[in-house]
Amino acid sequence: MTQPTLWLRCEKKEFERRAALSPSVAKKLIDAGFKIYVERDEQRIFDDSEYQNVGCELVENNSWPSAPTDIPIIGLKELPESTDPLPHTHIQFAHCFKHQAGWSKVLSRFHRGGGSLYDLEFLNDSNGRRVAAFGYHAGFAGAAAGALALASQKKGETLGLLTPYANEDAMIQDVKKVLGGSGKGTKALVIGALGRCGRGAVDLFKKIGLDDDDIIKWDMAETAKGGPFPEILDVDIFVNCIYLSSQIPSFLTPDTIIAAGKTRRLAVVVDVSCDTTNPFNPIPIYSINTTFSSPTVPVNIGPEYPPLSVISIDHLPTLLPREASEQFSSDLLPSLLEFPNREKASTWVQANELYKKNLADAAATEGL
Ligand SMILES: NC(=O)c1ccc[n+]([C@@H]2O[C@H](COP(=O)([O-])OP(=O)(O)OC[C@H]3O[C@@H](n4cnc5c(N)ncnc54)[C@H](O)[C@@H]3O)[C@@H](O)[C@H]2O)c1
Repeated sequence: MTQPTLWLRCEKKEFERRAALSPSVAKKLIDAGFKIYVERDEQRIFDDSEYQNVGCELVENNSWPSAPTDIPIIGLKELPESTDPLPHTHIQFAHCFKHQAGWSKVLSRFHRGGGSLYDLEFLNDSNGRRVAAFGYHAGFAGAAAGALALASQKKGETLGLLTPYANEDAMIQDVKKVLGGSGKGTKALVIGALGRCGRGAVDLFKKIGLDDDDIIKWDMAETAKGGPFPEILDVDIFVNCIYLSSQIPSFLTPDTIIAAGKTRRLAVVVDVSCDTTNPFNPIPIYSINTTFSSPTVPVNIGPEYPPLSVISIDHLPTLLPREASEQFSSDLLPSLLEFPNREKASTWVQANELYKKNLADAAATEGL
């Protein structure tokens, strides 16, 4: 293979409408000399024709296993479970470098097939910062889900199925409509407000009409005094967007919620960070991840107190597949342009070293 080439595979995970390459980014790669194959995929937010129109070659859905093995395969989410050996180079989120459930089985497929894996979660620039991440739209969508849950709660109802929106504007209009035309008068607190998710949450609140004064933005400086924080109880929606890297005092506990009594304002907690099973979860008031079909879980504090719902969905950007894909693949583009010369590009060299280390661990674990 002399011409730089990428093969965009379909996604098989339920509800996943995002793509690792948007049509506009595929066009930029083609303009730079790449050949791009795109699997037909009805699940993807972008139509097949959008790729064809910019010069991509469409191929059958899920046909990557029979693609020439020297063509790198790019996708987003995990491959469907299987024991088939993997002979290709894959660029994707594999969720196996932190030794998540099944990690060594996934890596043993690469070991047996002779392929390799570049995990999108671990592509960093020379300053150690992620080159591409979905955080902004996670915060944006999480804040929207929080506002929808608040509106449902005010009507004495429970928020039902959430489905991906065609675009950001459709989401904003829907949330405003459900709130009776505007979010004005709602008060929100975002912790981790300077990060990717936090900035997204703040922007959603602005776009649905909250007054600036009603969007309280906290980051490291404001939490330095240590929780729990009674201030959280005085807003309608609390959105947690921190990157948890060590043990910290809880932000909110069942005791502080009960102590706030029957006049508490806090109605919805959106835990975008979703450190649900982490022993240092700073919001130890719930214990499950919620889903698009059942977005909220109640905090069990007794019927004598006002209701409190938690949203802890761990794949929020899926609610905004178009913008999330567009932003992610644009951020990835400079690295993809370097991919043909990856042995000289530090982003790819480091990702490959990490893969090799994890592959060796997996081989030892699986006795290969
Ligand atoms: N639920 C989802 O769908 C979803 C999607 C993407 C990311 N995430 C998660 O969201 C979290 C944040 O991701 P990000 O990309 O925004 O990270 P980021 O590094 O861009 O931002 C994190 C922010 O949290 C702040 N922070 C860290 N500890 C804090 C503390 N104790 N008090 C106050 N602020 C604190 C940091 O200063 C930073 O501004 C991560 O855990 C990530 O895995 C969730």
